[in-house]
Amino acid sequence: MRLLRGLTLLLLLAVAEGRKGRTRRELAPGLHEQGIRDAGGSYCESKDACCHGRDDGCTVPYLDTICYCDLFCNRTVSDCCPDFWEYCLGIEPPFAVQKVCVRGGHKYPVGATYRENCNLCTCGSNGRWDCEDLACLMDGRMIEAVNRGDYGWKAANYSHFWGMTLDEGIRYRLGTIRPSTTVMNMNELHMSMDTNEVLPSSFNAAHKWPGLIHEPLDQGNCAGSWAFSTAAVASDRISIHSMGHMTPALSPQNLISCDTRNQRGCSGGRIDGAWWYLRRRGVVTEECYPFTSREKDSPPAGRPCMMHSRSTGRGKRQATQRCPNPYTHSNNIYQSTPAYRLASSEKEIMKELMENGPVQAIMEVHEDFFMYKSGIYRHTPVAAGKPEHHRRHGTHSVKLTGWGEERTPDGHSRKYWIAANSWGKDWGEDGYFRITRGSNECEIETFVVGVWGRVSMEDMHHRK
Ligand SMILES: *[C@@H]1O[C@H](CO)[C@@H](O)[C@H](O)[C@H]1NC(C)=O
Ligand SMILES: *[C@@H]1O[C@H](CO)[C@@H](O)[C@H](O)[C@H]1NC(C)=O
Repeated sequence: MRLLRGLTLLLLLAVAEGRKGRTRRELAPGLHEQGIRDAGGSYCESKDACCHGRDDGCTVPYLDTICYCDLFCNRTVSDCCPDFWEYCLGIEPPFAVQKVCVRGGHKYPVGATYRENCNLCTCGSNGRWDCEDLACLMDGRMIEAVNRGDYGWKAANYSHFWGMTLDEGIRYRLGTIRPSTTVMNMNELHMSMDTNEVLPSSFNAAHKWPGLIHEPLDQGNCAGSWAFSTAAVASDRISIHSMGHMTPALSPQNLISCDTRNQRGCSGGRIDGAWWYLRRRGVVTEECYPFTSREKDSPPAGRPCMMHSRSTGRGKRQATQRCPNPYTHSNNIYQSTPAYRLASSEKEIMKELMENGPVQAIMEVHEDFFMYKSGIYRHTPVAAGKPEHHRRHGTHSVKLTGWGEERTPDGHSRKYWIAANSWGKDWGEDGYFRITRGSNECEIETFVVGVWGRVSMEDMHHRK
């Protein structure tokens, strides 16, 4: 008797279990509300499972859940496997088939994405990849076009630029605001030159002043070329004018974080403002105040100025703070005299460079310049056939360190400037580039600036 009761209980439990299962299955959301995914997949077929009536065990794994191959699955709330209708009933499925996109032999669901260089591609509901049409900083076809053409320079694909848009390149890799008309019309300082004076056909500051010309810098994704080119030129000039008694590599970060009046840090700045700061406040070395704003959109406001100076009389200044890093003790402040503008004349720029050292030049950077690898750059028309947004330019500033001439096989000669960029030493010719000289290519001869380091007798004796 007791045994019988026990059995009944078990049976009841079993039925309850079954009910519970059924309830759960009925409440489950339909698998195909947004159309059947993986319509071509093999499910009921793979198990050769087509069950009659209702069979809650008649299941196959499907994506991250299970699907059914019993007749009961074909209700309003369907949990049938994608191939149930075709394989078990031999009819068309009553649900729309969700499209998939194919790429490299694989199928991807609607909404899947991948990157094609700088463009995002999304699998659309029509089963086609829909890609953005932004101009990319690196463009395989343009690289080929430059290298096939007879432009005098070669292009390369830089992996650290790959995936960036042209717009980002202009927004993050340049960063010099065009000087205002007033500044542009600044009185030019004329080099005293004999009209017949013959300058050498080539010159390189690094050969004339060995050990005093600093290597090209790397501004990362900080649009602060105004600070980098100023620090670069001032470093060389102070080293040359102190005859090597001081060879400071000045800190661009000091300018970016502290020269904030009318300046926008890593979102661009003015070189006249930078020179004002170098004269009136002065900056410390890169070692003392290292560069930390390498990443995109580093907020300039988020990095307070960590170095101030005060006057010690005789126009000299000294730091009021320790270096913003615990390892460097020396916090000497370096200053310059007022910067002066050179005439937009090839010869005068050459003479200044040869006599006093590297100069600063602004230039317009065009889309093809980012891909420069070697040779004598000039802007090419390789983007001419492309839509407007592929042809862009922005203002940059660089350090000119020399010049030269190259004979072409057809007997012509090509004149060039040697310039240090601030895109690291992996870019161009070890961080340098050569650009056509004498024709104001990319406006490189439009606004050229020189400066004297402020060097006292004291500096000549004490610092080293
Ligand atoms: C399956 O369900 C659809 C609607 O959901 C219905 O039109 C069709 O007749 C059903 N097929 C069978 C065999 O019950
Ligand atoms: C450029 O370099 C990137 C990264 O190294 C690579 O994925 C891409 O295929 C290259 N593109 C071309 C056109 O060479």
